[in-house]
Order: sequence, then structure tokens, then C-alpha cells
Amino acid sequence: LSMAELDARKIHSSLLLLEELELDAVVITTPLMIALFMAGMAQFLVGYNTSVMNSPSSVVFQGHTTFQWSLAVAVFAVGGPFGAVTAGNIIDSRGRRSGMAVVIYMFLFGGLIQTLAKNMMYIIVARFIIGFASGFSSVLVPVYLGELAPPTLRGTLGTLTQFSLVTGIFVSDLLAFPFANEKSWRILFSVTVVICIIQILCLPFLIESPRWLLGRDRKSRTARHIIKKLRGLRYDHEVEIEVNHFVCASHAQSCDNNDDHTSSGIALVVMLMDRQIRRLLICSLVLQMAQQLSGINAVFYYSTMFFEGVIDSPLLGTTIVGGVNVAATYFALRLMENANRRTLILWSAGGMFISSVSLVLCLLGYFNKLATLFFVLSYVTFFEIGLGPIPWLIVAEMFEAKYVATAMSVSCQLNWACNFVVGIVFPYLQEYLGAFSFVPFAVVLLMTFIFAVTVLPETKGTTPEELRDEIVRSLSTMLVLSNDNTASSSVGNPIDVEWRRA
Ligand code: GLC
Repeated sequence: LSMAELDARKIHSSLLLLEELELDAVVITTPLMIALFMAGMAQFLVGYNTSVMNSPSSVVFQGHTTFQWSLAVAVFAVGGPFGAVTAGNIIDSRGRRSGMAVVIYMFLFGGLIQTLAKNMMYIIVARFIIGFASGFSSVLVPVYLGELAPPTLRGTLGTLTQFSLVTGIFVSDLLAFPFANEKSWRILFSVTVVICIIQILCLPFLIESPRWLLGRDRKSRTARHIIKKLRGLRYDHEVEIEVNHFVCASHAQSCDNNDDHTSSGIALVVMLMDRQIRRLLICSLVLQMAQQLSGINAVFYYSTMFFEGVIDSPLLGTTIVGGVNVAATYFALRLMENANRRTLILWSAGGMFISSVSLVLCLLGYFNKLATLFFVLSYVTFFEIGLGPIPWLIVAEMFEAKYVATAMSVSCQLNWACNFVVGIVFPYLQEYLGAFSFVPFAVVLLMTFIFAVTVLPETKGTTPEELRDEIVRSLSTMLVLSNDNTASSSVGNPIDVEWRRA
């Protein structure tokens, strides 16, 4: 047997053992609970701060200009990519736990400035800092949870990221009723500070990701100690099975430990040079773009206008969308362990496409006004069962530990950039396209559907290592086919064509 075959056998047998072990090991231990709480709260703050500016626009520093206000809202999406870039480097070099400390202190800093603001300038600066913390968190949390979760719980924990975020959006909608007024708007902003103080108290109990520790030192005793506590294991040999699984898998990719500590920039170059990884990276980036260019934030930023003339209170309309968003994400949480990621993306893109086309028909006057509310709700629901959570959780499923932070950081920067574009462009789409303003989103959704049918690999229940093997296999088959049939080599999907050229 060749070394590679021996390695493959070793991986296979340790995976089998791991699977047996997981029957007992899917225990929600205290360290896991604390990690979930901290990660969940960070994402809650991202959601809370996404929509906290929606309602108090007329009561915070009355007399501000429209430009000042929109700058304060939009600068959040400018801070995001900065946070995402920084996160990629810090969580690789300093670890996931230090990354969490950065997120919490940045939220605290921004939250304090916002709560004690003396004028709009303070709010703008605070929003940039909070945006930075949010971008950082969007990279860190999925990576951290993806690494801590046993494979059987990966989908659920991954969806938790999205669930915490949408809960944050909904809570800020609800708190707007009592606090979005001249007297108590500072209370709305102080929620961020209170949550940060609770998180700071829990920080000493937060565990480091054992996967990150093992990536740096395969002999790490700390990693073994953490795995034991995290999984609630009693015996050292049980711990070694999980450690072996990680080490064998890394070894199979000839990861000789020297290239484990590369910086994000170098890691990205290495990723782009490798055909299989490049393919996965492209899939991940396409999903992130699809998530934002599906127009979801056009709904969250501008839903009020849809409800004019349909229900009396636009605030109530926004809150209903926020509530349905939470319910749909909860449903997705239940769904994620059993359903294939690819299938969910297909349903999500297909359902959103139909909803957006129906919305256009509503705005053209083909259906009654209440149908507008119905289709906005169905649009949001289909988003949350697929395109909402999956682009975030799929990165940790696709890439092995040494690439995951870089992949997440690049994905996240693209996500925030597209988020910013939709926020800025949608009012113009409305102005120039009128009732057809959702048509560009419908086109993106149709393309996403086609992409999921033709290109996207299934990641559920596989390790990043297995996924790579699978892609290598399908690549070889494809290369054989393309050699056999050179006449057809210019057809097929663009990624495959580019691949063959490479
Ligand atoms: C996703 C998106 C975010 C959006 C949210 C809505 O997390 O990344 O931009 O606001 O879903 O639920």
C-alpha cells in the first residue's frame, strides 16, 4: 500500500471510531454552553445594531441633516469589512479566544460612545466601531462554532449564528416601541453596553478552539484537556481518537506543520494556487454574493414602504417581518441537521425567486395589497431556510483549519461590500425601475438556483478533508472525460472550464 492509501485507511478508521464515540459525546457540556452563549451574544449584537437605527431617526439629536443620519447608518457597513480583514489575521495568529475579546471590547467601546454621545459626530464614530466589531464577529463566530461543534451538531450550531443575529434584529424592533422616543433613546443604545459587560464576566471561562491549538502544535496538552472538557469525555484514549482524526487528516494533506502559521495574505495565495481549494473558495464567494444580492437587506432597510396602505403602523409591519424572520430561522435550525445544504439552497433561491416575481406583480397591481405582506414574509422565510445561514456555516464545512479563517475573512469582506451596495443602490432602483425594482434580485436568485444545480458540492456530514478527496475524485473523472471528448471541452460550467485551463 502507498503512504496515501495507508493515510486514507487511518483516517477512515478514526472517523468510524469518532462516529461511534459521538453517539455518547453529543453532550452539551458547560464549556460548550459558555462558548455558544458568547458566540450567540456577539451575533445578537450584530443583528441588534443592524436595525437599532431604524426607528429612532426622528428622536436622536433632532435637527440633524438627512446626510448625517444616512452616514451614521451606512458607516456601519464600512466598518464591517475592516473588522473582517483584521479578524482573519488576529484569529489565525492569536487564536479564537483573543478574537472574541477584541469583538467584545470593540462593541463596548462603540456602545459607550453611542450611549453617551454629545452630537451626531459621536454616533457616526460609534457606528463605525460597532460595524468593525460586527465584521470581526461575522468572521470569528462561524469559524469558532464550526471548529467546536462535533460534525453531527455542526449545522445546528452554524445556524445558531444566524438565529442570534435575527433575534437581535427582532429585539431592537420590539424595544423601539417603548424606547424610540426623545426621552429614552439612549436606553436603546445602552443595551449593547449591558450585554458586553455580561460577556466580559464570562470571558475567563471561554475555551480556546482545540482545532486551532492542534493546528499549531499537534502535541498540545491544552488542546487535549479542552477536548476532554468540551466533549465530556472520561478517558484519554477517547480524546486521542479525536486528536488522531485531526492529525491524520492534516497529515494526509501533507501539512507538515511548517505552513500552518502563514499569514492570511499568503494563505490566500496558497488557496488560489490549489485547484480544489480554489473551486471551494469560488463556491463560498458566490454564495456570499448571492446572499446579499438576493436583496434581503433591501427588505430589512426599506420594508416600511411595502406596508404603506396595507397596515396602519409601518413599525408593526417591520416587527412582523422581524418576528417571522426569527420563526423561519428557528425552523431552519431544526431542519439543518437532516437536510442537505445544496437542497436547501435550491429551495431557498427558488422560493425567493417566486416570491420576488410575485412582489413585482403585487406592485404592478395584479394582486391585492395584503398579498404584498404575504410575499415579503415568504421571501424572508425562504431566505432563512437557506441563503441566510448556509453561506456562513458552509465555510467551516468546506475548509480545513489552516484555511478557514482566511476563507471566512475574504467571504465576509465580499458579503459586507455587497450589503453596502444593496443599501446604497436600492433607492435608485426604486426611483428608476419603480414596480420592477425587485427584478435585478430575481435575476440573481435565478442564477443562484442554476449555480446550485450545476456547481455547488454537498458539504453536509463531510469533513473538509473528505470533501477535498471527493473533489479530487470528481476532478479526475472530469479530466478523463474531457480528454476523451475534447470537442465538448469548451462547454460546461465556467468554473470547470477555467479549471481545465489551469
Ligand atoms: C444574514 C445577512 C445579513 C442580513 C440577515 C437578515 O445574516 O448576512 O446581512 O441582515 O441575514 O436576517
